[in-house]
Amino acid sequence: MRASAPNCACWINWSVPMAREANLTPFHSPSPLLAHQYCHSPLGTVAGTPCKFVLAFSDLSYSVKMPTKLSCFGKKHHTAEPTRKVLDSISGEVKTGEILAVLGASGSGKTTFIDALANRIKRASLRGSITLNGEKLEGRLLKAISAYVMQDDLMFPMLTVEETLMFAAEVRLPPSVSASKKKERVQALIDQLDLRSAADTIIGDEGHRGVSGGERRRVSIGTDIVHDPILLFLDEPTSGLDSTSALMVVQVLQRIARSGSMVIMSVHQPSYRILGLLDRLIFLSRGQMVYSGPPHGLVEFFAVFGSQIPDGGNPAEFALDLIRELEDTRPEGAKGLVTLNALNHEARARTSAEPCLPLQDAVRNSIASGKLVSGAMMDGAPFASYPNPVWIEVLAVTKRALLNMWRMPEIMAFRVGDMVVTGFLIGTIFWQLHYTPQAMRERIGFLAITITTIFFTSTDTLGVFIQEKFIYQRETAYNAYRLTSYVLSNAITTFLPLVFLTTTLVPIVFFTVGLAGGVQGFTFFFLTILATFWAGSGFVTFISGVLSHVVLGYTVAAAVFSYFLLLSGFFINRNRIPGYWIWLHYISLLKYPYEAVMQNEFSNSSNCFSRGVQIFDGTTMGGLPTAKKMEVLVAIGQALGLSIGNDTCITTGSDVLHYQQIDQLNKWNCLLVTVAWGFFFRLLFYFSLLFGSRNKRK
Ligand SMILES: Nc1ncnc2c1ncn2[C@@H]1O[C@H](COP(=O)(O)OP(=O)(O)O)[C@@H](O)[C@H]1O
Ligand SMILES: [Mg+2]
Repeated sequence: MRASAPNCACWINWSVPMAREANLTPFHSPSPLLAHQYCHSPLGTVAGTPCKFVLAFSDLSYSVKMPTKLSCFGKKHHTAEPTRKVLDSISGEVKTGEILAVLGASGSGKTTFIDALANRIKRASLRGSITLNGEKLEGRLLKAISAYVMQDDLMFPMLTVEETLMFAAEVRLPPSVSASKKKERVQALIDQLDLRSAADTIIGDEGHRGVSGGERRRVSIGTDIVHDPILLFLDEPTSGLDSTSALMVVQVLQRIARSGSMVIMSVHQPSYRILGLLDRLIFLSRGQMVYSGPPHGLVEFFAVFGSQIPDGGNPAEFALDLIRELEDTRPEGAKGLVTLNALNHEARARTSAEPCLPLQDAVRNSIASGKLVSGAMMDGAPFASYPNPVWIEVLAVTKRALLNMWRMPEIMAFRVGDMVVTGFLIGTIFWQLHYTPQAMRERIGFLAITITTIFFTSTDTLGVFIQEKFIYQRETAYNAYRLTSYVLSNAITTFLPLVFLTTTLVPIVFFTVGLAGGVQGFTFFFLTILATFWAGSGFVTFISGVLSHVVLGYTVAAAVFSYFLLLSGFFINRNRIPGYWIWLHYISLLKYPYEAVMQNEFSNSSNCFSRGVQIFDGTTMGGLPTAKKMEVLVAIGQALGLSIGNDTCITTGSDVLHYQQIDQLNKWNCLLVTVAWGFFFRLLFYFSLLFGSRNKRK
């Protein structure tokens, strides 16, 4: 049921007045007169917007291999069918100014269909063609002119709506767009998204009250459309929202479409009023297209099929119920509807209009009319993958993370407080250690526990890292900024608080315990503790890149740190470690900072840790009277041909290091290796994200 089309935008013209009227009659009484009023321009118009783009898809099919089961004898058995069609010959088109909504029950293939159009499925696995203005849609161009809004609204919780959108503008718009223009764009976006009253409210999370669910969804959409894309994909943007919020989201999407974009989205169950805002519908059942056409065509389509949509009822709800019923009661499912729709589709294809402009001209035109604010991307040259150089991205991403951190001072206060308590506890337990055999053991214990504590406290940021990783994956799915920028920024924002923590802990423990080395010793101890924090947080960062569950992350980090501690050389000397575990000693993160602080403490040969009769401390002779011990000592000296008195130093710092087998690297090299571990794990973090974030299905 379509008026003959003199141009490419006739279809949608039904719904424009319908949406305006927003009463309950449009689906039941379409007026051909209204259609003609809006189909007059030779270029085709949607409420005055020149028709520029036609995205056409034909015979889109996508199959997935079903998993094979192994039988007891190792033979592979396929499940009933070796492959399963998730999408089956989907065809249609969408034009500038329109909203195309994909409807269907859960599992009908909506997300897969949107992913297919958005180039999120490997082309080799996808059959059929997707063209924009008749030309094959190339991935790079698609990324530059489109946006994909994911279902989850992952954003930094402590930033306001305006700041969140401003960040998006900073990374998504190129440097050629001035700062004031970016601000203007954000203000326009706030109005377009109907977020003026919430502009200064924070996004919020479980612990902080922020914007409402509907506002949050609109901000999330805003961050992806700040560059004013020509094509906008959204997967269930209304799911999880109450009906009013959902309606507002679709109203915003309509506004975006009318400003000269194409909006393609999936909807689970649109309300009557939402249906009035949509221009084209595709109903899917088990991956097949059961209806494609405008909302007002539903009544006639189902009437032809023999199912009358009751007056005043929601046609979408009726259609979905009917499809479900057919799927449940008939083995062939909704095949009848699929066939009827195919006939309809064929008839329509014969009258389908030609695209309005060649693709390059259309893009250029769009940019000239203010779309794709990052217009600098198109200078006859191919589209740049990223709008900004690395340094601008690092600056913007770091600024945002620091601002978010600044807004949650309680977290930093808690971490600093933790260091004060730890320092106080350790410092008072190991209070002013002397130079005796007993104190020597305590010094070693103190150094080992300090290094260990630092590694274990490094895990405190695991949850934050994992949350940020999800935000990163969401934002970079469509090239907002580079992975390098994120990893660099993550390193900077992690490092700054570590300086605070080190500055808190080191002075407390250094002076209360009475560590050796004066100013130089203090400086080296400070640097080693900072490097230890750096290496520990590097390892935790890497864990957060590999694992996505916080509890799993803690378990793995705690286990690995325990193994590292066990084989660091503190509990068991290197020569006593079995050969098949020695590699764990060398990759033990704890080995290097532990050996560094041990050398800092014990390398001064003038410090003596056991003098004269102290040699008997901790032995069965320790309880003898001093005079008796002295006699034994002199006798030992005579037997050895040495003159040993009560002032003779028996154990120097070097003896301690020798006994502990700390003799491979000097303290500065140990410090360097510790720093290098921090960098190494951040490099691994980079690769874990590079290979771990799958934005494309196979
Ligand atoms: N890679 C895959 N392997 C196996 N099944 C898949 C795969 N991708 C999609 N499917 C199946 O295809 C169907 C459609 O999925 P989806 O597009 O997510 O549906 P919807 O978004 O409509 O809920 C579902 O039954 C899903 O389980
Ligand atoms: Mg889905």
